[in-house]
Amino acid sequence: MPSSPPSSLGLAIDTSFDDTSLAVLSGIWRVDHVQDMHLHSHITLSQSHTHQRFGGVVPERAARQHLEVIHPLLEEVMEQAGVEFSALDWIAVTHMPGLVGSLLIGMTVAKTLSYALQIPLLGINHVEAHPYACFLSGTCFVYPILHLIVAGGHTVLILQRDPEEWHSIGRTRDDSAGECADKVARLFGLPMPGGKYVDAAAQAVSELCYIFPKPFLKESHFDFSFSGLKSALQRFVRAHPEAPQDSVLAAFMHSMQVVLLEKTFRAAQKYNVQMVTLSGGFGASVTLRNAFRERAAKEGIAFACPTPHFCTDNAAMIGVLGLRHYATGCFETMRLRACPNLPLPSPGSPTGESDVP
Ligand code: KG4
Ligand code: ZN
Repeated sequence: MPSSPPSSLGLAIDTSFDDTSLAVLSGIWRVDHVQDMHLHSHITLSQSHTHQRFGGVVPERAARQHLEVIHPLLEEVMEQAGVEFSALDWIAVTHMPGLVGSLLIGMTVAKTLSYALQIPLLGINHVEAHPYACFLSGTCFVYPILHLIVAGGHTVLILQRDPEEWHSIGRTRDDSAGECADKVARLFGLPMPGGKYVDAAAQAVSELCYIFPKPFLKESHFDFSFSGLKSALQRFVRAHPEAPQDSVLAAFMHSMQVVLLEKTFRAAQKYNVQMVTLSGGFGASVTLRNAFRERAAKEGIAFACPTPHFCTDNAAMIGVLGLRHYATGCFETMRLRACPNLPLPSPGSPTGESDVP
């Protein structure tokens, strides 16, 4: 009988934006799931309090803070896992997309450990890792699959007809969904990141009092555009300062939800997918999760989303893709570079625009 591949143990690091996150995990990569998935330890230190008074993340400060905390966090995550550095099989690190100064901090630590321990260095695409956070709670992917990734920096629709495929069929042309929610929350003086406050308002309001635009809803393509919705809300608030905050935020969230839901499920029909996933920080929204779950059930399509904790940025999801890269021998050298942008491949298009047949 052929022997099954052994479980591998790795350390994952994510410093792509304003969270310093590290995880130690082990498991066996099985293409559609991870067998014997075990998250030994996981620590995420948010910097949001640091950037609060600037109303947005300051790249210089973010990089400096990653540098200050990463070594103590590294010691802590290894101690919590109860493993020695010598027991690690691999190191996975986010190298794109993100703030270059921040990415470089995590990458330098990862390269140093990889060199010192003589173990493989694995370079991970942070956005690609988001849907794989589903594996942390035992989900099995069923192909063809459509991933809606709604993060603070990106909103993309990814088609995976088989495990090897990763094609963009739609993306935002301006603000991402999370970024738009954050900007709207800031308009009301809510703390950043504001997505969860917008979501809380949507949950608190049962009756829709206002109607905001639903950009690109009727267009046949699967791209998104949210900055017009944000501007419409700004104009409305200026003209109606008396409008209750929760009602305005609920109406905003409704527009977001309708656009994300309709376009995703229209694409799901077109590409005849078996499963839809929702991931990325904005995917922690209870309103969105419930709406997606309900719609998928109605259409007879399987649906998965990571637990809310693993929707927002975390190193555990980086580690899940690390298991894949390790199993498939996708190793990097010390020349691995930080890349601020998200490459979105799609067949026949060198620019990465959506044109999947
Ligand atoms: O994935 P993420 O942590 O960072 C990026 O990769 O960009 O996403 C951050 C976004 C922010 O816009 C934040 O407001 C939103 O996720 N977010 C939420 C919730 N938690 C974070 N949005 C709605 N409900 C939440 N509970
Ligand atoms: Zn993210």
